Amino acid sequence: MAEAANGGSAEKISLAEIGLRFEVDGEIATITLDRPDRRNAQTFATWSALAHIGDNLPQQVRIVVVRGEGPSFSAGIDLRMFTPEGVLGQGSFAAAAALDDPAFEELIAQAQRGFLWLRRPGIISVAAVHGHAIGAGFQLALACDLRVLADDAQLCMKEPALGLVPDLTGTKPLVDLVGLPRAIEICLTARQVGAQEAARIGLAELVVAPEELAGAVRDLTAALLATGRDAATATKRLLQGAAGRTLEEQSAAERREQIVRIRTLFAGS
Ligand code: ACO
Repeated sequence: MAEAANGGSAEKISLAEIGLRFEVDGEIATITLDRPDRRNAQTFATWSALAHIGDNLPQQVRIVVVRGEGPSFSAGIDLRMFTPEGVLGQGSFAAAAALDDPAFEELIAQAQRGFLWLRRPGIISVAAVHGHAIGAGFQLALACDLRVLADDAQLCMKEPALGLVPDLTGTKPLVDLVGLPRAIEICLTARQVGAQEAARIGLAELVVAPEELAGAVRDLTAALLATGRDAATATKRLLQGAAGRTLEEQSAAERREQIVRIRTLFAGS
């Protein structure tokens, strides 16, 4: 069960009703966007459910794979949010627009919580992307640490073309990965970035044939799990902090992490 944001109120609805599946197999959790008839369009309920999954992730999970069922990874936000009626039980942009600033900010912050946990140092998140990843779909892929793309993948940051900004935590990873000029170009043209280009500009670690996507993700996750949890967590934490630190500060951070590692490994031996 997950709590779906609804313009301030909340109700309990099941993952299946929201169009999500969550499966755990040992150290690997898989989140599947499962509304193929709507091309896995996302709603506030999707984001609340993602946050709920993050809050309740079983302790043993080290890898989180995010994938989509059907022909698309995700066609982005459910476009019915733009209609006056909105999505049944989940409000609309018109309803959200009537909120006061703190309540509106909180609504967006709640949505962002569904994405932010995927960067936690203790896990590695992998987006397995095929078909379209548009708007919120592209941002969900960007929220993951790594992206494996099927060669039919098309990434598109559609929000500005719809009069919005990308606000589901995607702007920072996009700039970090492709640089500011390319990020501006991708966002403001709202063009589709194909899989090969995505790999070339740093948006994908790997591109494979669609029928090889699941296998490639399995191989990658197995390779990632070869490193022990504590060293993997400390290394990810170190790497995540690198961009915000000077070389001197980063060297100091390396020393601090390594002292803990070596003491843990060799104390008393
Ligand atoms: N919201 C709600 N329903 C959607 C969405 C969406 N974002 N995308 C697709 N659907 C529905 C369609 O309305 C259609 O429903 P129907 O069968 O009742 O007519 C069904 O899913 C299949 O869609 P098609 O367009 O027929 O599928 P196709 O494979 O030809 O195209 C594509 C897929 C390219 C993803 C297309 O559906 C599309 O462009 N969708 C809208 C993308 C978009 O603008 N998203 C918002 C981005 S901004 C943001 O996320 C904040």
